[in-house]
Amino acid sequence: MRPQRGNNRFFGLLAAAACLAALLSGCGGDNVYPMTTLSQKSDLASEVLWLFKEVTILDSIVLVVVVVAWLGAIFFFSTRPGDSEAPSHKHADLYLEVGWTLIPALILLAITVPTVRAIIHTQPYDWSPDTLRVQVVAHQWWWEFHIPSLGVTTADELHIPANRQIHFELLSEDVIHSFFMPALGGKRDVVPGQANQLTLVATVPGYYYGQCAEFCGASHANMRFRVIVDTPSDFDAWVAHQNSPPVKPTGGDAAAGAKIFADAPCAICHTIKGVSGFSKQYTYGFRGPDLTHFGSRTTLAGSILDNTPDNVALWIKNPDAVKPGANMPELGLRGKDLNDLVAYLESLK
Ligand code: CUA
Repeated sequence: MRPQRGNNRFFGLLAAAACLAALLSGCGGDNVYPMTTLSQKSDLASEVLWLFKEVTILDSIVLVVVVVAWLGAIFFFSTRPGDSEAPSHKHADLYLEVGWTLIPALILLAITVPTVRAIIHTQPYDWSPDTLRVQVVAHQWWWEFHIPSLGVTTADELHIPANRQIHFELLSEDVIHSFFMPALGGKRDVVPGQANQLTLVATVPGYYYGQCAEFCGASHANMRFRVIVDTPSDFDAWVAHQNSPPVKPTGGDAAAGAKIFADAPCAICHTIKGVSGFSKQYTYGFRGPDLTHFGSRTTLAGSILDNTPDNVALWIKNPDAVKPGANMPELGLRGKDLNDLVAYLESLK
């Protein structure tokens, strides 16, 4: 049966709409689409974007060849009503058979070689002495970051220096998660009982969004994080600040809040260095984020809320409403107690 003219027009419009949507999705700056993978800010992201472009170009060539052959078959090589001759037959053509076996094989090779090279490149066996090792521990539903060589532990917001190789060691406390920083690269599964690796060099200082990219339970979508790429001097300053003791409030609401923190169950799960928590460097098995410098972070609760006093109060009042299924219990704090605790936490710059 010959295709209908109306059908052709419909599929043509559909293809044009799909192309336009694909083109438009690449528009807009980092500010409009902070989760775009088309704005690469690391060597890994550049490599992945290059692969994406290469595959897209090859696929587009295949698409054009197939569509041209298809249209040619419809308009030039089909039999019209009233034609006297029967359509020509071709049962076997060695060159054609070899050609359409060889060409896809070459296309696959052209995709496979750079893909495998990128995979090997991002999981090297040898690390340069300058490499900074960062341990990433995924929890339902927040991210814990350790930089063992610098004694830094933080949550949901990680600072890394620009133009230095970073070796992420990916660990999970519970289920399978996936570490994904669209502008910087990823995504790599974080699997319990296995340390996966990821390495990259961030090239542009900035504030980048991250997100768990593997369904991991009720609040999977609320398991976000931020990566702040600093200049080397800014990074050193951040490390020095992270290693400084927490602020000790001397009076006012914050001092009253410090007492509430110690008396309420907060201190059972949350470390504030010198105030609560294990003295050992790592807090594996500890259920809540380290809050030593909580006030200096820009977000909270898996980076789903901006770090403002109102949002901290909202979170403490009813964690389950913000992050369904969260381990953080409702403490029943209200009024002045809540206000004081928020003041204390926000004072932990
Ligand atoms: Cu963790 Cu999805």
